[in-house]
Amino acid sequence: MAIAAHDLKNPLSAIQGLAELIINDYRTLSQQEVVDTLKMIVNSSKQMFDIVDNILQVNAIESEKMRVSLQEVDILSTAHILLERYTTQARAKNITLHFSHQEEVYYAQVDLYLVVRVFDNLISNAIKYSPFDKNVYVKLSRREKVIHCEIRDEGPGLSEDDQKKLFGKFSRLTPIPTAQENSTGLGLFIVKKLVEAMQGRVWCESELGKGSCFVVEFLAASFSG
Ligand SMILES: Nc1ncnc2c1ncn2[C@@H]1O[C@H](COP(=O)(O)OP(=O)(O)OP(=O)(O)O)[C@@H](O)[C@H]1O
Ligand SMILES: [Mg+2]
Repeated sequence: MAIAAHDLKNPLSAIQGLAELIINDYRTLSQQEVVDTLKMIVNSSKQMFDIVDNILQVNAIESEKMRVSLQEVDILSTAHILLERYTTQARAKNITLHFSHQEEVYYAQVDLYLVVRVFDNLISNAIKYSPFDKNVYVKLSRREKVIHCEIRDEGPGLSEDDQKKLFGKFSRLTPIPTAQENSTGLGLFIVKKLVEAMQGRVWCESELGKGSCFVVEFLAASFSG
């Protein structure tokens, strides 16, 4: 609670300060300056929204109130939509997103809403912790009973010690965001719980200085049951 409250304080005080700036200086500010300040307020409130959303998700997981409704979902189109959503953010860091797959559909037995959250967290991390001008590779393949998904980056990679703490709650580790993005340390904790709730598996393969590869496996639709 203390960490979450502290994380909420930063964007909240930014909103307060920026709003006060407009109130005090609106006569002297140009229209463009007012718009820019309002944009910063919107960004800070988005940040708060994401944190609250993550806290609610953790609460749902821990109070076992999380609803999981498994259905046949095409993982390819889900991953594709998520990648598209991140093109602007990647472009801002000159990061190129690559998507590769051998088949045109990959049906898994999963909860669509939860799969979206899983890809969202993993793709956002790959971009968030990568330096500028790098590549992020998303690769799908079918391996017997599972749909195998890899999200690989050319970022700082993770030490063995960091890898042990990776899926813990509020674990902000050695790599820090490369463009001042928000970091609460809840994303991967949520990812692991959600993947396991869908009877899947998630792990990280990494070597310090050589990038990270996050692997998620979901049960293929035709093998569930
Ligand atoms: N692809 C990655 N490359 C390098 N380090 C990573 C990567 N993904 C995660 N990490 C490290 O693991 C930590 C935990 O990641 P996690 O996604 O749980 O939290 P976060 O990204 O800090 O915050 P959020 O709650 O917004 O996801 C990060 O703070 C970072 O240090
Ligand atoms: Mg994250």
